[in-house]
Amino acid sequence: MKAAANKSSTTGVAASRPPAAAIVVDRIWKRYGSFEAVKDVNFTVAEGEIFGLLGPNGAGKSTLIRMMTTLIPVTAGKALVGGYDVSKAPDDVRRAIGVIPQAMTSDPDLSVVENLSIYAKLYGVPRVERERSIADVLEAVDLTKWREAQTKTLSGGMRRRLEIARGLVHNPRIFFLDEPTTGLDPVSRIAVWEMLNKLKVTRNLTMLITTHYMDEADKLCDRIAIVDHGTLVAMGTPVELKNSVAGANVVEVHFGRDSDAWPARLEKLEGVTSVQPEGGGFYRVITRSGSKTTMQIVELANSLSETLTSLSVQNTTLDDVFIHYTGRQLRDEQVKPANFALPRPEGRP
Ligand SMILES: Nc1ncnc2c1ncn2[C@@H]1O[C@H](COP(=O)(O)OP(=O)(O)OP(=O)(O)O)[C@@H](O)[C@H]1O
Ligand SMILES: [Mg+2]
Repeated sequence: MKAAANKSSTTGVAASRPPAAAIVVDRIWKRYGSFEAVKDVNFTVAEGEIFGLLGPNGAGKSTLIRMMTTLIPVTAGKALVGGYDVSKAPDDVRRAIGVIPQAMTSDPDLSVVENLSIYAKLYGVPRVERERSIADVLEAVDLTKWREAQTKTLSGGMRRRLEIARGLVHNPRIFFLDEPTTGLDPVSRIAVWEMLNKLKVTRNLTMLITTHYMDEADKLCDRIAIVDHGTLVAMGTPVELKNSVAGANVVEVHFGRDSDAWPARLEKLEGVTSVQPEGGGFYRVITRSGSKTTMQIVELANSLSETLTSLSVQNTTLDDVFIHYTGRQLRDEQVKPANFALPRPEGRP
């Protein structure tokens, strides 16, 4: 792993004492027959942290979550969640955690409160506490006035909030969310982020989320692990990851006339570490010195009598980090809408 940095976040924890680990994943593997979905992954999540697993479709994010939440067995290695070994003490792990799976699993034909009530019973929340707990979680996700509504009448964002409430009804310490905002519109996504940030503080939660949205990882997570092809390729705070990319700046340039020769010409400039063609004469140039590269691009265009339509210097984004560590772009077409099916059964290809 090309680790960006090992410094862990101290969010919500006294600085004098190292934060306790809520999740420890130690050299974990998952094989489906001869296919290795997760390969030798290690990470630790401190209490009170929001930790993100960021990666494209098929990276192994859900497989990791499903092992940590005891839904599928670990092939090799070990995971401790809330201090309990997922393989040896799965019942203790289940009591300590709340899980929001990637697929929406609330029953569309039941009311909001009925969906919550079933879960509260399933988790053995005593009858005297059930009503109060349901009222609390409904308030926390802003669905109190919808408690009697049929679940199928809710919008996608409201249904996601119901799923979040359902995962909290037994008051867990550690919360797992598999792609909490996939398929939601931009306004609902921001509402879910705000809600999760508030819940983290008010309910003293540790959270592990998976996402393939860069902006989500950047805004929500204290630390991020980039996962690709079952392997953890980089880990750190969003700032550490951005700083770890060789080029500290990105120069965005638009040439009046596109040409196959631009990438090679740009790559030769001083300090340039990579060039990404964006199409239509647009290029993103990653460089160690934004100012030098900008000057040189102007000189290059002048010497070739080519026009520059636009030129700007920007800071590195998590997209650049992803490209740097995986050699690929996390493109929009890889992001699929929310999946309403039940989770795939173990062993099915
Ligand atoms: N039950 C299974 N049997 C065989 N292969 C599986 C099974 N479940 C997952 N896989 C494979 O393991 C790999 C990782 O899948 P996983 O669902 O963990 O990816 P992901 O990162 O969650 O992707 P997505 O963003 O699409 O949800 C994929 O190649 C997938 O096809
Ligand atoms: Mg998944």
